[in-house]
Amino acid sequence: MQKDTNAILNAIDSIKKLLDAKDLKKGKLLLFLTGLVAVADVIALAIVVPILMLAIDGNFLAKSSKLRAFYGFLGLKNEGGFLIALILMVVFFFITKNIIAIFIQKKIHDLGTLMVQKFTEKSFYHVINQSFEKVSKKGSSEFLNKIHFNSLYFSTGILLPFVNVFGESLVILLIMGLIIYFNPLIFIIIVLITAPAFYFINKVIKKKIYLLGKKSKENRDETIESLNIGANGLMDIKINQSSKFFINDFLKKQKPLVESDLKAIFYQNIPARANEIIVLFAVIFLVVYGFFYSQNPAGLRTLAAVFVLSVFRLVPAINRLLIGVMKLKLYQHTSEFLISNEAENVIPSHHNISFNHEVSVKGVYFKYNDASIPLLDNISFDIKNGEAIGITGLSGSGKSTLMKIICGLIVPQKGEILVDNQLLNEDNLNHWLQKIAFVHQVPFVFNKSLAENISLSEIYDLSKIEEAIRGSGLYDFVNELPHGIKTWMGEQGANISEGQKQRIAIARALYKSCKLLIFDEATSSLDQQTEAIVMETLNNLKKQNVAIIIIAHHGKIIDICATIYKLENSRLIRIKE
Ligand SMILES: Nc1ncnc2c1ncn2[C@@H]1O[C@H](COP(=O)(O)OP(=O)(O)OP(=O)(O)O)[C@@H](O)[C@H]1O
Ligand SMILES: [Mg+2]
Repeated sequence: MQKDTNAILNAIDSIKKLLDAKDLKKGKLLLFLTGLVAVADVIALAIVVPILMLAIDGNFLAKSSKLRAFYGFLGLKNEGGFLIALILMVVFFFITKNIIAIFIQKKIHDLGTLMVQKFTEKSFYHVINQSFEKVSKKGSSEFLNKIHFNSLYFSTGILLPFVNVFGESLVILLIMGLIIYFNPLIFIIIVLITAPAFYFINKVIKKKIYLLGKKSKENRDETIESLNIGANGLMDIKINQSSKFFINDFLKKQKPLVESDLKAIFYQNIPARANEIIVLFAVIFLVVYGFFYSQNPAGLRTLAAVFVLSVFRLVPAINRLLIGVMKLKLYQHTSEFLISNEAENVIPSHHNISFNHEVSVKGVYFKYNDASIPLLDNISFDIKNGEAIGITGLSGSGKSTLMKIICGLIVPQKGEILVDNQLLNEDNLNHWLQKIAFVHQVPFVFNKSLAENISLSEIYDLSKIEEAIRGSGLYDFVNELPHGIKTWMGEQGANISEGQKQRIAIARALYKSCKLLIFDEATSSLDQQTEAIVMETLNNLKKQNVAIIIIAHHGKIIDICATIYKLENSRLIRIKE
């Protein structure tokens, strides 16, 4: 039983650590109410059976002094009326008790939902606040697991089962207490018959389920990843008629996941079956005992009560307790992740950094982990406010990587970025990011309205949006949209063209009112006319003292740059003064 206590203690410990004072208070209240319902459950069954048996017996008032007293108290005219009143009271008690129980259950589930949301929010911030390199290495499945599933399973696998375990434990203790009170001998014999069997089944099954849960967790990542075909992948699959390849791949990964999930459900149901057999033995014992005991009607009534309590409440309680404890064990890892989150929750610092003169890249050396030679070696250049520089170079030469270094998203192994002579570091990174806009090569468009895609916020400045739309050459496009800037863009911008996506990304950068603007192949899909609009916008920004870096292979846009560099063999060579 050592492991059970650990699972329960661990649940208590993690709940205490992870819930704030207010939620904890609410949780405690709900736990208390759950306890009351458990008591009511047991009392209801313990009282009803003897009463009903008395009624069947006839002339029941003669047999119970307590009932006679109650009869006198109610002042009813005859025994029949009293019996009906008793039955009505019992029915009323049961219905009320169960309605209250449902209401409390609902409140518990509401709290569970709230907690999922709170943990999701925390986990999301935690994942995103990690370094860019760390986050971007992880696939979308990792996102889904850490942010969504972990929070959900903490709620459904720890919080809710914990309440169940508490309630059911109380029920079991109360019933045990009642049995001891009525007849300690019966209690001892029942325990001797059932306990070893329960213990054995519990132990074997729990171990199985725990291992299956671990297996599921491992397989879930790959399965989600394989399904992540996305809007772009779909086109290649259709045109190349390669659905078989992808479907087979998915089926292969899904199989172990489904197997372990369904096996876990299978094993969860075994204890209920096994318990039935155990209880059968207990009942046989009771019947045999009752047979020799039948001279004493009160004792028989007690036996019947014990029997009904066992069948209706004790066995289900034991089953639910076992399942609850298994879940606590199975989902223990969710609390481990959330607690480690809490411990290492980095609050991004906001040291100021000003940019009124120039950004200097000094002796930057960078090599990706698995690469044999450095991608960038001793790269140095400056860019002043109001200046535009261009960077060209072969595909794969490291242009985009260099831009990520300037943004502070990637930290080079050697060299530094100085902004107005101030070293760019972790402390001022967030302030630096506020000052720059980066239109990268894979413009990301969300399934939100155009305005939200530009402002990246629910609340936006309409005049700034309009300005960004004009500056990015989106004006005509917006005029044709059915709902203007409120039109939704579809999943990953499924409803719009690549050039439109690029312009949305440009508008997003313009809306930000940055001091350094980076264009990484930002106009590659634009026609000459639209490119000219964007070039005019950039020229205006230059006049407003914005520094601009343009990466381009072709097109006119690079002409606005006074200085052009070429990135070649890890070095930066100036090709235009
Ligand atoms: N996260 C990463 N891990 C390992 N290698 C990477 C990573 N990102 C890029 N690379 C490699 O680094 C090299 C430079 O990539 P980068 O995107 O900087 O090139 P680029 O000059 O922008 O190319 P393009 O003109 O095609 O956009 C490439 O060979 C690429 O395979
Ligand atoms: Mg690139």
